[in-house]
Amino acid sequence: MDNRKIGVFDSGVGGLTVVSEIYKQLPNEEIIYFGDTERSPYGSKPKETIHMYTKQIVKFLKSFDVKMIVIACNTATIISIEELREELDIPIIGVVQGAISMALLTTKNNKIGIIGTEHTIKSEIHETLLKKENDKIDVFSKACPLLVNIAEEGLSDTDIGFYACKHYVDSLVQNGVDTIVLACTHYKLHENNFKKILDCSIKIVDPAIKTAENLSEILTEKNMLRCTHSKPIHEFYVSGVESKFSEIYGLIFNENCKAKKVDLS
Ligand code: DGL
Repeated sequence: MDNRKIGVFDSGVGGLTVVSEIYKQLPNEEIIYFGDTERSPYGSKPKETIHMYTKQIVKFLKSFDVKMIVIACNTATIISIEELREELDIPIIGVVQGAISMALLTTKNNKIGIIGTEHTIKSEIHETLLKKENDKIDVFSKACPLLVNIAEEGLSDTDIGFYACKHYVDSLVQNGVDTIVLACTHYKLHENNFKKILDCSIKIVDPAIKTAENLSEILTEKNMLRCTHSKPIHEFYVSGVESKFSEIYGLIFNENCKAKKVDLS
């Protein structure tokens, strides 16, 4: 038993899509979330800058004595997880591995589309890991930088969100993919658009589901689940405007959260 909280972070509101899965799969756990909304988007910033940000965030989360850290951001996972894992004395997981296993289970025609930030797509990590498992798989990738800002502005379910999503996924559809991996945690917030745009034969993979499963497995295996009947109390911190974050939280969860502003730099 370990009643400490789980630290979760992202460049902004995208990681809330992972929080949503944690709420579903581990309803008794408590979360401390940090959204780096002031410095978002990460996707096109220099690697060194993102690495510095992630180190500051991990230090902040560690100051709450969290029992585990979830990097709810593909970009930060790709850039920083290896080094953080070596430095930390608590378990840390990211969102990339879950995407691979889910995509392999989902595709029928071995044509997989990956959408993510510029860093994520340039890293070719998904392609490398997928081909390692099955060299017959064809991967078609597309960086979709605008989708993060649109989600941060709460504009996913507007014409702007719809046409931006359409613009980005059209070429993947033309390549005949039957599976599209949301390799950026913000993109789940555009799910309604993808559902409208994509034929129902094209499946959307949301790695958050597998990430929460991995989290659950680790906590169970290490005997670290929270074990008390008191209602979990979650905490939310942001580097930008608190009310903007809380508004998007409300859109996702239909309830309010009180986010607090902190300056990590
Ligand atoms: N949500 C993040 C990801 O999964 C980062 C998006 C960004 O800040 O560019 O990559």
